Amino acid sequence: MTDLLLLPGDGIGPEVIAEVRKVAAALTPNLAIEEAPFGGKSFDLHGTPLTDETLAAAKAAKAVLMGAVGGPKWASAPRDKRPEAGLLGLRSGMQVFANLRPALCFQPLADASTLKREVVEGLDLMIVRELTGGVYFGQPRGIEDLPGGGRRGIDTQVYTTAEIERVSRVAFELARGRRNKVTSAEKSNVMESGLLWREVVEDLHKREYADVTLEHMLADNAAMQLVKNPKQFDVMVTDNLFGDILSDAAAQLTGSLGMLPSAALGVPGAPGLYEPIHGSAPDIAGQGIANPLAAILSFEMALRWSLERSDEADRLFAAVEKALAGGARTPDLGGKLTTAAMGDAVVAAL
Ligand code: IPM
Ligand code: MG
Repeated sequence: MTDLLLLPGDGIGPEVIAEVRKVAAALTPNLAIEEAPFGGKSFDLHGTPLTDETLAAAKAAKAVLMGAVGGPKWASAPRDKRPEAGLLGLRSGMQVFANLRPALCFQPLADASTLKREVVEGLDLMIVRELTGGVYFGQPRGIEDLPGGGRRGIDTQVYTTAEIERVSRVAFELARGRRNKVTSAEKSNVMESGLLWREVVEDLHKREYADVTLEHMLADNAAMQLVKNPKQFDVMVTDNLFGDILSDAAAQLTGSLGMLPSAALGVPGAPGLYEPIHGSAPDIAGQGIANPLAAILSFEMALRWSLERSDEADRLFAAVEKALAGGARTPDLGGKLTTAAMGDAVVAAL
């Protein structure tokens, strides 16, 4: 059985996944690792970003680690064949509805943020983004011609009680192991789905999680509070679209998008999908300067959440901290190390 299925994908994906292989060879030599084509790479080979074979292999593995997908090369591919569509298909096919996006400020990087040191130093927040519903998947959607000329674009934001409840449960459970606070972000002031979101979270809290502090915040205010005083947050739970936006903002608090891993989880026992939250970065692809730490830390999350190897995960996390404390920096962090040299620094620290 495959322990870890690697989907290097496009752009800097293969470069950062190569460093994960290096780290895995040093840390967990007996892990059964396979690789499959995905994204634009798969489109070039098979005419589709996600083949049935790759999806089946993903569902059969214990964990899946993706590099990145997309790039200008596939911008004019039919919409349902674009690399991003493959990613949405993978998330929904694996039913990984809860996306954990930690924003953690490593001590040696407190000055790498564009925000003042005192705002971000010691930051440790977890965004739980709903990943398989909402406007990303809601029907109807499309662009249609209007009879009198012009066109109309439609997306549908839709959430059911069950979808809101299962992702909120993940947030409450996580909070209990952390600082015991959940902030739920929605737009209940203008959206019906936001109102339902708020009611369902409130209700679940009353029924099962009254010991956890719960706060509701409008998503626009949450964006402002994230840059004003991010340390007020412990766990933030939010929908697919707001989670996409708020997690990019949270990422920058930590100094670089190149540092942030993520874990997408489904029901207990099902394989998790791990991805660095950075994209394929076509502007720097192939230059060997991408920061591999988001991918390496995504591997760390896979060890912890899907592969039942928390000791190795602890060792890897400590090695990343040590490499950073020793001054290891790729260009996004203001340094000069290549992607491979950063991988070597982590292996050396191991
Ligand atoms: C992310 C990305 C994806 C998303 C894109 C690449 C489809 O921005 O994982 O945050 O919007 O979910
Ligand atoms: Mg995003």
